[in-house]
Amino acid sequence: MAKKYHLTTFGCQMNEHDSERMKGMLESLGYVEAEHRDESDLILFNTCSIRESADNRFIGNLGEAKRLKSEDRSRVVGVGGCWSQSLKDQVFEQFPFVDVAFGPGQIHKLAEFLQSEDLSAQGYFEFEGFAGDLPMKRERPFQAWVQISTGCNCVCAYCIVPSTRGRERSRSPEELVREVEGLAAEGVKEVTLLGQNVNSYGRDLPKDERLDFADLLALVDAVDGIERIRYTSPHPKDMREKLVRAHAELNSLCEHIHLPLQSGSSRILKAMRRTYDRDRYLGRVAMIRSDVPDCAITTDIIVGFPGETEDDFRETLEVVDEVGYDSAFTFVFSPRRRTEAAEMPDQVPYPVKQERMARLVELVQRRACERNQRFVGTVQEVLVEGTSRTDPTRLRGRTRHNKTVNFRGLGEP
Ligand code: SAH
Ligand code: SF4
Ligand code: F3S
Repeated sequence: MAKKYHLTTFGCQMNEHDSERMKGMLESLGYVEAEHRDESDLILFNTCSIRESADNRFIGNLGEAKRLKSEDRSRVVGVGGCWSQSLKDQVFEQFPFVDVAFGPGQIHKLAEFLQSEDLSAQGYFEFEGFAGDLPMKRERPFQAWVQISTGCNCVCAYCIVPSTRGRERSRSPEELVREVEGLAAEGVKEVTLLGQNVNSYGRDLPKDERLDFADLLALVDAVDGIERIRYTSPHPKDMREKLVRAHAELNSLCEHIHLPLQSGSSRILKAMRRTYDRDRYLGRVAMIRSDVPDCAITTDIIVGFPGETEDDFRETLEVVDEVGYDSAFTFVFSPRRRTEAAEMPDQVPYPVKQERMARLVELVQRRACERNQRFVGTVQEVLVEGTSRTDPTRLRGRTRHNKTVNFRGLGEP
């Protein structure tokens, strides 16, 4: 009987993509996916530590793995991803039932561990190369992620990612184009290019193959069969005109830019070490609006960063009102281990954060709703992804502007 694995993924698209690689690798070793954790021989987690809530969600799940392991000692429990990387060997001290732990750059080590004679607990945390050469098991045949770089060289004061994903490294353009051509040949229509800071892509490439992110987009756009290109996440500091114009010029590049604001207050942006201020950010937005007038703009915002006053927060509200985002991910600041902001004085009390969050969400939703009106009565191309989450008789898909649309398909009465 084939061994069964169960993998639970937390965190961002980067982790989802790493999980596809883990699944592909396990299946190439002869493992099959189990539907439920309690029927698997190998219990795996791909973890995230971006906020405390992510840690807590995972620890809750790990409790079940502990119970299952105590019922059957031959089960193997493995923990990969950012949480694992940020705690390293402490994982085994705190959770002695874990057999194997590894960081995001080490997913190939899982295969090595599973194939070794000796299954005594091991940890793998050195930053290494890409998982690009591992097989992947994709969720949908027509959509794929392509990891263009790993790591992040920024030092945002609140963020744990630089310590879990290491320094930034770009994959070679030839290798990437080959990967995209391979995906197109398998029937992929939409690719999402992934990196912590996609638009700083290429700066670390050797001189003879150096190109920038906009050049890379043009190469991907030229691959036959790829109809949609998306990417995440860009950093506002590297949002140059050449890249913005690519959205107007390249046929397959979608009319959507995710431009993480984090805060509308220049004082807080400085404390966050974001390297742009409010005016520079709004300048980027103006450039997008003038070059690609219809472009959807989305963002990430943190409320309650240490030292954020009511006036700072009002500046965030002003920017949200002025930009009119198509949607925004909003987060309550969460102090993370070994980050600068966790040690800052003037931490904002939780009730204040909550109250600000409520005001922010109300404004974000109101402006998004107003922005959405521009599509009423228009015809949009939708890539169908499945059935509606609330009504299985309807279909669900996304427009080029990344709007989710639920609709009746052909053949419905
Ligand atoms: N590399 C990407 C994504 C980083 S994580 C980027 O720079 O855009 C995604 C979002 O989580 C961030 O944009 C930020 O808004 C939020 N985030 C990161 N660390 C956080 C923290 N400690 N507390 C609250 N939100 C955080
Ligand atoms: Fe974190 Fe900033 Fe890097 Fe994004 S750019 S991953 S927020 S350090
Ligand atoms: Fe989480 Fe790591 Fe992604 S901390 S958000 S899984 S890069």
